[in-house]
This record gives sequence, structure tokens and C-alpha cells, in this order.
Amino acid sequence: MDIILTGDRPTGRLHLGHYVGSLKRRVEMQNSGKYEQIYIMIADAQALTDNADNINKVRNNISEVALDYLACGLDPKKSTIFIQSQVPELCELSFYYMNLVTVSRLQRNPTVKNEIQLRGFKQSIPVGFFTYPISQAADITAFKANIVPVGEDQLPMIEQTREIVRSFNTTYREVLVEPTAVLPENSTCSRLPGLDGAAKMSKSLGNCIYLSDSSNDIKKKVQSMFTDPTHLRVEDPGHTENNPVFIYLDAFCRDEHFGAFLPAYQNLDELKAHYQRGGLGDGTVKKFLNEILQNELRPIREKRELLAQDLGEIFKMLEAGSHKAEAVAAQTLSEVKTAMGINYFNGNELPR
Ligand code: TRP
Repeated sequence: MDIILTGDRPTGRLHLGHYVGSLKRRVEMQNSGKYEQIYIMIADAQALTDNADNINKVRNNISEVALDYLACGLDPKKSTIFIQSQVPELCELSFYYMNLVTVSRLQRNPTVKNEIQLRGFKQSIPVGFFTYPISQAADITAFKANIVPVGEDQLPMIEQTREIVRSFNTTYREVLVEPTAVLPENSTCSRLPGLDGAAKMSKSLGNCIYLSDSSNDIKKKVQSMFTDPTHLRVEDPGHTENNPVFIYLDAFCRDEHFGAFLPAYQNLDELKAHYQRGGLGDGTVKKFLNEILQNELRPIREKRELLAQDLGEIFKMLEAGSHKAEAVAAQTLSEVKTAMGINYFNGNELPR
């Protein structure tokens, strides 16, 4: 049976990019009943590796992310939702895994390299940040997760985890499980562009629709979206590739939306063909996209607002999840220490 672990850094509310890239899929996996255990981690300790002086940002976003999770349909009865920093066993595992990884191996990690650039660390890279791929290996292996649903940028972390697992299992004993990454099904889902047409929807670029946005925010944001800059007049032929409005339609539109909101067309191919021929204005397409997004996000927002009225309840749920997660991590840690021969008072013969 399969065990899933995945998570997010709590550095902001979750947006449509997270929703199509991972949340929707997690909820489907959860509800399929095919997985033995599902762990969803709010990675506050990892978020602190580049936010040491910004604790409140990380603290305050824990409940935001938890609300986003529950509003999308993650269910604490089926998935264990927990806070990374509340499972100290993860730090202990990381400490032993550090001995199995070289500095040069960490320096080659393309995602970390890229993040160092983006953050402008230059020569002042926090050690914790530099080593977070090792702590991520601890997150995954503590739960013996074999399936890790993530975005493409996380593949180097999974590869690093696999190397640590192989190294541990051959150096000591076969205790850890090699995980496999599961990527989003198609490229639209792995990387939703921003409202401004930038390659990625991202909080730092300010081009997001958040799951918690009001109906009015969504409408205004859709109206402001970048489209095809060569499509100046309605009669002009338009391009649907690299046009974020159509990319969002690829991600969200289903045939039944036409019946409900735009009955002049049967399906997205017909709509695209008309746009490409010319004679279809951006306003019409945006209005349609707005209807679809309103329809998709309304129930999420309403559920979120309801849940947000009792944050005490949210933290109780996170506390229970963290206790459950800790018990599992403690069991793995004990096996790890026994395999290493350092479980002196419980499991290993005393050294002589
Ligand atoms: N690195 C992930 C992110 O930036 C968060 C994360 C931490 C994670 N530990 C993990 C994801 C373990 C999957 C598995 O979003």
C-alpha cells in the first residue's frame, strides 16, 4: 500500500496555481481511498530557512494555508495535516542524514541554486537554507512515504532523498523507503501563468488569484488579464497559445460550462477557432472565464469563510495531526538509530 507525503511552505495564502498544480489532485487522491496514509505538512521550519528575521510572516500563514487546505476538501479524518516544527524527530533525522551528503552535492542542486539567485544571497547563504534538501529528505522518509506529489521544481529534492535513502540503507541497514515524485498530469497544470502573462503565478510577482479572493476581486483580476497583444480589434485574428486567458480555460473549462454560460459554442475548440479566425472579442472570453472561476471558487471561499470564524478549531486539528505525525516519525527515528547502532538504552547492545 502507498503512503503519500507532501507539503507547502507557509509564506502566503494559496492561489490558483497551487490549486490546479497540486491541491485538486491531493483531494482526488485522498478521496480515491487508494492510499494507506496521507500526510500533508505545513513546512514552517523550511520556510524559516530564508525568513529567520520574518517569523511573523511564517507564523501568520500557518492558519491561512490550513484554511486553504480544508476549503479545497482536504479532510483531517482522511489525511494527517501537521506542522513541521512540531515534529522535532525531523531535525534529528536531518542531523544524521547530513553525514551522508557532501557539500558539493548540495551545491549542484538546481532548485537551490536558482533560489539562491532569486533571493540575492550571494556569499551570505544561511546554512539552514543550503541544507534544506536534507531536511526535506527527513520529512519524506520519516513517514516512509513512497509517493510525493509535487511540482517539477521539487524533482531535485526527491532525487536527493533517494540518494540519501540508498546511502543509509547500504551504510547501515535497510530501513528507509525510496520515494517517487508524482507530477501534475499536464503542463497547464504544472505551471499556470500569471494574470500578467508571466511564466508563473507567484505571490512575489503580484499576479495571482487567491483561493480567498472575493468575487469582486476575481472579476477585476480577470478583466485586467493580459491576452494576445496582436489582437487589437475584435475583427483581428487572435492567438490562443501563450494567451493566459485561454491557458486558464484549458485548465478550468469543461463542455458543460458552455451550456451554462456561453451557449453559442459547444466546446473550447469551437471558441478557440472563432478567436483565431477573428471576430471574437477578449471581453466575451474574459466574461466566460470569470463565470467559470466564480463557479469553481465560490464554494471554496464560502467554506473558507465559515472555517475562518473558529481558528481555535483549526489549531486543534493541527495539534492532533502533529501528535499523530510525531508518533510515526518517532518510530522511524528509533529504527534509524537502532540501524546505526546508537539506540544505546533501547534496542542496541551497549558498546564495550
Ligand atoms: N519544498 C516544498 C515547497 O517549497 C515544501 C516541502 C517541504 C515539501 N518538505 C516537503 C514538499 C516534503 C514535499 C515533500 O513547497
